[in-house]
Amino acid sequence: TARTRVKQALSEGRPGETLLLKGWARTVRTGKGVTFISLNDGSTLAGIQVVAEPELANYAEVAALGTGSALTVTGVLQESPAAGQELELKALSVEVVGTADQEYPMQKKRHSFEYLRTIAHMRVRSNTFGAVFRVRSALAQEVHRFFAERGFLYVHTPIITANDCEGAGELFRVTTLDLNNPPRVEGEIDFAQDFFAKATGLTVSGQLEGELFAQAFSDIYTFGPTFRAENSNTARHAAEFWMIEPEMAFADLSDDADLAEAFLKRLCRFALDNCDDDMRFFNAQIDKGLIERIEGVAQASFARMDYGEAIERLKKAPVSFQFPVEWGLDLQSEHERYLTEQVVGGPVFIMNYPKDIKAFYMRLNDDGRTVAAMDLLVPKVGEIIGGSQREERLEPLIGRMMEVGIEPESLSWYLDTRRWGSTPHAGFGLGFERLIMYLTGMENIRDVIPFPRTPRHAEF
Ligand code: 4AD
Ligand code: MG
Repeated sequence: TARTRVKQALSEGRPGETLLLKGWARTVRTGKGVTFISLNDGSTLAGIQVVAEPELANYAEVAALGTGSALTVTGVLQESPAAGQELELKALSVEVVGTADQEYPMQKKRHSFEYLRTIAHMRVRSNTFGAVFRVRSALAQEVHRFFAERGFLYVHTPIITANDCEGAGELFRVTTLDLNNPPRVEGEIDFAQDFFAKATGLTVSGQLEGELFAQAFSDIYTFGPTFRAENSNTARHAAEFWMIEPEMAFADLSDDADLAEAFLKRLCRFALDNCDDDMRFFNAQIDKGLIERIEGVAQASFARMDYGEAIERLKKAPVSFQFPVEWGLDLQSEHERYLTEQVVGGPVFIMNYPKDIKAFYMRLNDDGRTVAAMDLLVPKVGEIIGGSQREERLEPLIGRMMEVGIEPESLSWYLDTRRWGSTPHAGFGLGFERLIMYLTGMENIRDVIPFPRTPRHAEF
């Protein structure tokens, strides 16, 4: 018999069929003359119940199995008398592949997410993290389908870069450990001797390189790891996260918002239709209104509001904020959540921010004081997307770089795209972990990425 996955056995199997399954015991219950094992191989939320009886050659070994053991089971599918499941597997043989003892950290009781973070190598075997990482994988594949259908070229932008795209000074420096050539001054890096003979860091965004590709392939996207040495210990920031960045030539800010809206709705629809078991689990265990909310978003038309109006609304708010609200100041997460949760009651694009609080590459508006920027805010998560129309005019771009202290020479390759065949173009970045938080109701970014990296935390 060929091996069957548990998901397939439960959804397509018929009573009387003989199946071979491989997986891990999630629970083991031994009663009088019978042992019930919930076997899961990660393909689905609910494991399959394996019924083992004393006629098994190694019944004593099976009855004494611990949670977490790895097993190969051959058995016959039968209708289950137990509530909540239609089929179970009556074991003909159980091979113990790997045992697990009482020390196994994932015993049946409910563990806190804080505790599970300390055993991130083991938490993947729990129901919640199984659901999170199945949804994460399915959505990553849907991201590629969405862009492929629209003719976007998928480009791999570099992870080691010599530019700080966002200009926020949050680069992790890249250097070699050369024990034969230690830095001449203790604690200082000698870049002349260093691998690249110049300062390099881990990318904070693939955008600038993505823009180059958009100026040749029209519509492109990147989807890759992104690094920020942001020293903010919040539930929404990670030092290593994944970002999806589309870029379109011959496009303006409104085209950009249209794409972002279509993209997010498509991912909502996909999760509801294709991850239904896992979504029902999140709805029941993590966030009661989840399915209804995501269903609403998949159908809604997103609000669009000028930054100036957002400031007015915040000033009139009948609540007091911790941070000040003034035209020219950046929105804090309390402001973002108020706008999306209280004012709009759904996703909202905030557009046309003051130029001084945004990155150098954004297109200056005719008013001379705002730029064609957009952030998409959603309830519970806040900012999920940040994007803009780019400054495609050479002179204003150089002017802006000088203003913020970027040496134009250092980005001469970027400026060349404005010298030769420049086009209006626009793009955005979607934080993949924020998307997963949004679609699962999980409240901490550490619980939607397999191996979280945050200040003072980089286990594994
Ligand atoms: O708003 P950001 O900084 O925009 C950019 O990087 C642009 N270059 C994108 C572009 O236009 N191509 O980041 C984009 C998104 C944010 O909206 C957020 O969802 C996510 O990336 N993000 C983070 N996610 C997790 N941890 C962090 N430290 C994040 N910083 C940004
Ligand atoms: Mg942003």
